[in-house]
Amino acid sequence: MSIHIVSEEGSIAETVLLPGDPLRAKHIAQTYLTDVVCYNEIRGMYGFTGSWHGNRVSVQGTGMGMPSFSIYAQELIDTFKVKRLVRVGTCGTLNERLRLKDVLIVQAADCDSGMNPSRFGSYQYAPVASFPLLQKAYRHAVESSLAFAVGNVFTTDQFYDTKHADKLAVACSVGTLAVDMETCELYTLAHLKQVEALTLLTVSDSLLTHEQVPPEERQNTFNAMVGLALSTLFDE
Ligand code: HPA
Repeated sequence: MSIHIVSEEGSIAETVLLPGDPLRAKHIAQTYLTDVVCYNEIRGMYGFTGSWHGNRVSVQGTGMGMPSFSIYAQELIDTFKVKRLVRVGTCGTLNERLRLKDVLIVQAADCDSGMNPSRFGSYQYAPVASFPLLQKAYRHAVESSLAFAVGNVFTTDQFYDTKHADKLAVACSVGTLAVDMETCELYTLAHLKQVEALTLLTVSDSLLTHEQVPPEERQNTFNAMVGLALSTLFDE
């Protein structure tokens, strides 16, 4: 039993989708899975287990930002023995190649958080996706004619940051495609704990033009990304 996910041993699948928003977890479970059981409601951070085309899969909300994400991911891995974690979230684009509603398959994460310096000191660890999942996601994205890119994300601690302009200029100068707030922690934990991880993101807003995808349209692109996540995980 863990502190933030309170459920029986065996109630969570080895493969978990991780949206930030717990209501998105509910939407994914209701839309894609059969035989769904809700295994966690603590703090409203819903978790569900069900079946997709005969494959057991769970969906767990994580909240926003690396510290919140880290709690849920560690409890899933340490207590519930989860082996494959795919974050399904949104990002802000930094590059004209990545347009609103496109999907980003995240190869690696830059970061401004204090978490990895606190863990590793002066050693600058490189948080990267699990190659087998990255490769499968790429193949499925090509086959499904999805508008997508493969590239790096800047995982930031602050959504509202007075130093935003300076940091984004650096991110653009090294070709980083978008901004999120969780992937660096997912990729770091996956390597520390020897599990597989991948982040897929749909572009919800542009940090170049300040355009946003209207909320009513977000669900459609989000659904296409969840389809990509599931077909990648179960290689269908
Ligand atoms: N910044 C950080 N995270 C995000 C953004 C953003 O602009 N958009 C979606 N996730």
